[in-house]
Amino acid sequence: MNTIFAHRGLPKITPENTLASFVKCGEIDSLNWIEIDIAITADEELIIIHDDFLDRTTNTTGEVSKSYYEDIKNASAGLWFGEQYNKETVPTFKQLIDIVNKYDLNVNIELKGVTGNNSVNQSKKLIQLLKENLGLLNDNIKVLISSFNFTLLKLAQESLPEVERAVLFEEHAFYPDWQSIVDYLGSKTIHIEDKGLTKEKVNHIITQGYTLNVWTVNDKERANELFNWGVNGIFTDIANELLHLSSEETVQ
Ligand code: G3P
Ligand code: CA
Repeated sequence: MNTIFAHRGLPKITPENTLASFVKCGEIDSLNWIEIDIAITADEELIIIHDDFLDRTTNTTGEVSKSYYEDIKNASAGLWFGEQYNKETVPTFKQLIDIVNKYDLNVNIELKGVTGNNSVNQSKKLIQLLKENLGLLNDNIKVLISSFNFTLLKLAQESLPEVERAVLFEEHAFYPDWQSIVDYLGSKTIHIEDKGLTKEKVNHIITQGYTLNVWTVNDKERANELFNWGVNGIFTDIANELLHLSSEETVQ
């Protein structure tokens, strides 16, 4: 199956990681998977945001893991993108779950690393809250947890062994010991950066029995090439433009 993951929603036409973006995904019939970034605040709220800091995608500032949701909840997460999105706020994971359930969207939850000197406790709390919230999902929703952070993936394995996990790699960090890391984390799925990815490397990973998804692919020809090489899925900022590739058949 060629899976198209809508990376942070549809960030070319809506502000990334907002409910407006995920609703837009839900309104597209053949769009089945979204990717979200999840983080924990100082007062233990799970929120959907990519960066460690609020500065780029909201009209407030500060480090997410040291900020209080009370101080974040009224900030605009859409104004930076366009005046018409002024009312978009930073979504909580619970708000996201309502959208996912309503539109039958499968979800790849990327766990963002927890920063600061309370990171171990906050990481444990993040996983505990994640587990509680996943219980609110409809039974038909598929979930894939992923992270660059091996501690979070290990904690997820211990608390949520039944949920599939993927290990994220940047190209420069994909060392020859990748397989022992992935096996240690009990995963069969790899999310690798597209930059520098070769047919030989794809073939090597797949023939070892791992599922491979590639990020972030915004070029149609490259997406088609990767599917022809046998990758399972791609993360893209233009999922709405690449859905024709989400089938068994790709152009040779
Ligand atoms: O999960 C794939 C991709 O989202 C990882 O990179 O920085 O876009 O979260 P980033
Ligand atoms: Ca991500």
